Amino acid sequence: MQATVVYFSVSGKNEQMAKALDRDLREKGHNSVLVFLKPRRLVGVIGSVLLSVFSRPLELSEDYGAVEGDLLVLVGPVWASSINPVTRAFLNQLKDLGGMRAINLVCGFSPHPNVVRQINRKLKEHHAGKIVSRPVRLRDIDSYDKMMALSDELIKEVTQTSAESNA
Ligand SMILES: Cc1cc2nc3c(=O)[nH]c(=O)nc-3n(C[C@H](O)[C@H](O)[C@H](O)COP(=O)(O)O)c2cc1C
Repeated sequence: MQATVVYFSVSGKNEQMAKALDRDLREKGHNSVLVFLKPRRLVGVIGSVLLSVFSRPLELSEDYGAVEGDLLVLVGPVWASSINPVTRAFLNQLKDLGGMRAINLVCGFSPHPNVVRQINRKLKEHHAGKIVSRPVRLRDIDSYDKMMALSDELIKEVTQTSAESNA
């Protein structure tokens, strides 16, 4: 399987999670490419909150929208109980996924299932296939082993065929 692990991170937690997934995919024999979503400029905390609350994207330094392969892994933080503006910009850039499977992880101080659902809806608008998603509470994945355990669970679930899941 060819995977693209796309992430945004400021203080490094989402980056660690994305890197754990990228490493786990490779260890499981898949090809994986890690992509950091780089905004053209950063805004302060107040700007970040305002953009998030008003559902505005932050301009990205390049077009990341043409994702290739069989699996898109998207990892990013919740900001102000909303999709952060960098992930939102990526979702706006995203081209047709043509049934590609997806893992969607949204990390925060507390779990935000509503944000996970919003991102899933956007992935479906872009014709994602099977989506495995989780709202992640950062204190629940505070070690490398916990990140790898979560990664293992997600990869197993997303690669399972419908016959296997019905068995
Ligand atoms: C501007 C801002 C707003 C945030 N709002 C929320 C929030 O509403 N709910 C929550 O659980 N965490 C919130 N957080 C915490 C972030 O989700 C957390 O810092 C992030 O997942 C850490 O990721 P990083 O280390 O990859 O940057 C917020 C953080 C920032 C910077």
